[in-house]
Amino acid sequence: MDSFENKIAVVTGGGAGMGRELVRQLAKEGCDIALCDVMEENMQETVDIVSSESPEVKITSFKCDVSLEGDVFSFKDKVIEEHKTDHINLLFNNAGIGGGGSFLQGDQEEWEKTFAICWHGVYYCSRAFMPYLVASTEGHIINTSSVNGFWASLGGFPHTSYSAAKFAVKGFTEALIQDLRLNAPHVNASVVMPGHIGTSIALNSGKILGHADAEELSDEEIEEMKKVWISLGAPVHNYSNDQIRQMVKERRESFKTNAPTSAAQAAEIILNGVKEKKWRILVGDDAKNLDKKVRENPEKAYDPDFVSPFSIE
Ligand SMILES: NC(=O)c1ccc[n+]([C@@H]2O[C@H](COP(=O)([O-])OP(=O)(O)OC[C@H]3O[C@@H](n4cnc5c(N)ncnc54)[C@H](O)[C@@H]3O)[C@@H](O)[C@H]2O)c1
Repeated sequence: MDSFENKIAVVTGGGAGMGRELVRQLAKEGCDIALCDVMEENMQETVDIVSSESPEVKITSFKCDVSLEGDVFSFKDKVIEEHKTDHINLLFNNAGIGGGGSFLQGDQEEWEKTFAICWHGVYYCSRAFMPYLVASTEGHIINTSSVNGFWASLGGFPHTSYSAAKFAVKGFTEALIQDLRLNAPHVNASVVMPGHIGTSIALNSGKILGHADAEELSDEEIEEMKKVWISLGAPVHNYSNDQIRQMVKERRESFKTNAPTSAAQAAEIILNGVKEKKWRILVGDDAKNLDKKVRENPEKAYDPDFVSPFSIE
């Protein structure tokens, strides 16, 4: 697809982060947008920004939890009705949260919710919108996986649900390439694998999963975190529980500010990848380096010293 002008794009999780930046940049290129999110206030903010930046494009929004099949099909009906269309050109399966770290110690409900959003969200939206991509003259499905779609670790911290879901997203997208080539050659598929991107995903995921703010974490939770950090070599033995709470707060907030790639830069890389019909889009030098490192030495990929525990989030 050389140009997004006069195309119709569906973007999930368009209320914040990379989703919002994708919506803004697509709209600036003259693309009509239908976005969804679970956070209505953020979604409205995206609509307001785009309405003032790109008043000529049509933008619609719908509250939809992508992990619920009913929500997704209602979203699809609304898109077709509001855009008065029989097709869409672009589907960005972008919505996602982090969570479900430990399979052994963590909460089962959180594990399943993370998996449902990150995998079933992609699956249901693909089911709902694929016929409309096929009905276009030029279509593209873009599924956001992660570096955790090829490397299932946070460097010392377990990351089981998110990684399982992101591996599924990557595998599904790669398998779609041949399926589309045979059955709908005018539709392309890309898997997006971002490294660390400056967004509020840590804070947003906490809100969606109902996590306590750092200040409200119980002494038990704090002591558990302290134990993990000490096992990873962090010099926090003598820290009080309140000092650990402060560290947790700073780490959640700094996820956005300390990233090597901004959400706007990430969106630009993704959209250029789509234009160039790249089936794999690595976002950021950290993602490219990790991809190379894992490919060069897969047997060592889960050794404790493969990456520094605090270098990849
Ligand atoms: N930020 C990173 O470092 C990073 C790295 C690798 C992959 N990713 C992936 O990139 C994608 C975008 O993440 P981001 O960093 O922009 O995060 P973000 O939190 O800024 O944006 C994600 C958006 O998805 C929405 N969302 C969450 N659950 C939803 C649901 N059930 N239904 C609909 N919308 C939902 C959130 O409300 C939010 O607006 C995610 O799939 C994430 O897993 C992010």
